[in-house]
Amino acid sequence: MNLPYYVTWTKQKDASTFEIDCVDGATVTTKDGLRLIDMSSISYQAHFGHNHPTIIKHIKNQLDTIPMSSPKGIYPGKNETTLQLLQYMKKENGKIFYTTSGAESVENALKIARDITKKKIVLARSNSYHGATLGALSATGDWRNAPHITPEGWVVRIPEPNENNALEKTREIILQNGPEKIAAIILETITGGNGVYSGSSEWWKGIKNLCVEFNILLIMDEVVCGFERTGKSFGYMHYDVEPDLLCLAKGITGGMIPFGAVWTSKKISDYYEDNILCCGLTNYAHPLGVAALKGVLEIVHNEEFIKNLKKIIVLFIQELEKCRLLPIVKEIRVQGMLCAIDLHQTIEGKKFFQNGVYLVAQNKRIILAPPLIINESLLKDGMSKIYQVLKESI
Ligand SMILES: Cc1ncc(COP(=O)(O)O)c(C=O)c1O
Repeated sequence: MNLPYYVTWTKQKDASTFEIDCVDGATVTTKDGLRLIDMSSISYQAHFGHNHPTIIKHIKNQLDTIPMSSPKGIYPGKNETTLQLLQYMKKENGKIFYTTSGAESVENALKIARDITKKKIVLARSNSYHGATLGALSATGDWRNAPHITPEGWVVRIPEPNENNALEKTREIILQNGPEKIAAIILETITGGNGVYSGSSEWWKGIKNLCVEFNILLIMDEVVCGFERTGKSFGYMHYDVEPDLLCLAKGITGGMIPFGAVWTSKKISDYYEDNILCCGLTNYAHPLGVAALKGVLEIVHNEEFIKNLKKIIVLFIQELEKCRLLPIVKEIRVQGMLCAIDLHQTIEGKKFFQNGVYLVAQNKRIILAPPLIINESLLKDGMSKIYQVLKESI
């Protein structure tokens, strides 16, 4: 199809697209009448399905009252919703900087870390994705960061958590590059699209100890893992480690409004009492984003939602156990409603698509992240369709 706009992350002549007719909860129906069960929350943002009434209600109310604002404007709900977010994060002692995407959250976190420390280098993992803007992409270690795109010397790679002596090697890297030049370490709390890998609690504690010893800030990227995705409200809650900055997006509005946020510690917010915060966006704290966030906070505080989610996670794990037995399956890693299935061979996403399932398929791997509101029968249906494709593909 000859489109007047670009399709992301692909050769334009090979682009694969699909026409959407309507959406309902965890399903999307195409113009050809194919009903797809969304098993990856599209790109891990449709946490609450595609048309959650609570989020829609708050966005509509906002449209009818104050649909846009100045970045410095205080409109009803801005303070209250931000305080509720801080409480929900268990981070009342810090402050929020709002953005309009995950990449911008990372971008601003990197800027703040470099500004506060007056240092330049950032440490990051190779197996990582942090966004497509120049700063966020420089921290990204996967194929999307082609070496010719991002400036050299901004980022230094550290070993993966599962490598032998990972922390000893990280310490050596810090010493080689000079701790006086290293501003921050940026890490996804659990690697999302690059395979659902978590570091152990010991590894995270070791990382934090290095940060404290060498005066390096710890930036945790929660863009995928935030808002109940991994069985806890936020990914960082799996570890006993204090971040200095947290990056949020995607689930923050369930994907319904482009939005994001960075949480910064009290030490950082105190610094900006007397120093200029050289960060800003025209659509800073956009009322529609804050309204959608208000809806999200209402959902995650609903006891029924949390009770159902706990049941759905158990069912998801049971269904995955069935897939584990298939010869094509090499390994499964799952944390809450986020899962990677490593395969012995590549299966193209279109095979699942034709079978009525939308998911993220990469080289010899599929990533599952069903909407958190998916019901039992739809989840079972989606998993059995995936099982069928996996079974027939060997
Ligand atoms: C861990 C992580 N960080 C940051 C981003 C960038 O978010 P966005 O695409 O909203 O800019 C992504 C996007 O997938 C992500 O997975």
